[in-house]
Amino acid sequence: MSNIAVLGAMWGDEGKGHITHHLSRDYDWVIRFNGGANAGHTIYRDGVKFVHNLLPSVDFRHPHVKAYLGSGMVIDLEKLRDEVVEADKTYPGVGRRIYVDKDAFIVEQKHKEEDKASNAHIGSTNRGIGPAYKDKIGRSGKRVGNLFYEGEPAALLDLMKLGVNFTTVLEIEDAFRASNLLFEGAQGVLLDINHGIYPYVSCSDATVGGIIASGFAFAKLDRVYGVAKCYTTKVGEGPFPTELHGEAADDLRKLGNEFGATTGRPRRVGWLDLAALTYACKKGGITHLILTKFDILNGMPKVPVAVMYKKTPTSPSDFFNAVPLTTEVAGWDDAKDYSQLKDFIGLVEKFTKRPVGFISCGTDDRDITNWAA
Ligand code: IMP
Ligand code: MG
Repeated sequence: MSNIAVLGAMWGDEGKGHITHHLSRDYDWVIRFNGGANAGHTIYRDGVKFVHNLLPSVDFRHPHVKAYLGSGMVIDLEKLRDEVVEADKTYPGVGRRIYVDKDAFIVEQKHKEEDKASNAHIGSTNRGIGPAYKDKIGRSGKRVGNLFYEGEPAALLDLMKLGVNFTTVLEIEDAFRASNLLFEGAQGVLLDINHGIYPYVSCSDATVGGIIASGFAFAKLDRVYGVAKCYTTKVGEGPFPTELHGEAADDLRKLGNEFGATTGRPRRVGWLDLAALTYACKKGGITHLILTKFDILNGMPKVPVAVMYKKTPTSPSDFFNAVPLTTEVAGWDDAKDYSQLKDFIGLVEKFTKRPVGFISCGTDDRDITNWAA
């Protein structure tokens, strides 16, 4: 059996959805283990765009692949119902391939209201994530399983009618042990509650720690992929050492179509930051990298990259006054001429000490290449 994880290495939106979707055909389960509907995983299938907020990025065209929403998540059940209804239109009966861990916690209406009222200074997506995790930690949260004892509200019945299964890891552990598992992270290591740049973080475990915390300690991981763009983006407030401003930022944002998949907000943009990426690899448990969106920088003669900071970051607080040291590396006319990417990828591998496993230079499945092969 082979198990892997695909994590966001930076501030989310690195293209995890696209990569996970592509790799999912080789796995039996795609498992989300953290976050909730704050995630926005963009997928293009046969040229049609889909955004999954709660559903794992399963390629539903392959009938053997199942989706699992793990116990580390906080789930807005009405939002989930809407997503399953939408998926069911293209893949009738798809609900039967979707499993929800009864130990996951629920996002309630009051959590979304509290988010709006209290978390604007972080740049929250207002999906109720922080307040739901706050109640969980404060021991006043409600798990999905609780609803079975409380008269099954409409959202749960709707999901059951769609065929969605409610279970726990231990109930189906034997099936997991006999399967190939792909764990799909949400957000990214720099937004992790423990290791991200606090307080500008989300509230879940975006590192490999989140997989174990969700009850999957038995699943040995062969590889942990960290996904990063060949430049950097961030939504929300907080330090961003390689950020661009003004016209240069507007140009890159437009080229990369960098607007939030969940909220539509313009993303902040900047150059690749290898100090932050190396920190994320170490804290996140990342063994291999996946680099995306090379096509966006087509035609740049030189590409700036921050290779280190004056002081190597070893703690989230080191990002607040970071001084990046930047170099330039040869660019590419056409990302599909892979020989032109060698300098850039070589630099990333040298500084992060992590091999690049896959690269992506477009939104189609055919745009993902096994770089190591
Ligand atoms: P929250 O998770 O909605 O509370 O948002 C906290 C911070 O994380 C904000 O800066 C959000 O913009 C950011 N964030 C949360 N989820 C994602 C994501 O999936 N991609 C990128 N940024 C995210
Ligand atoms: Mg996203």
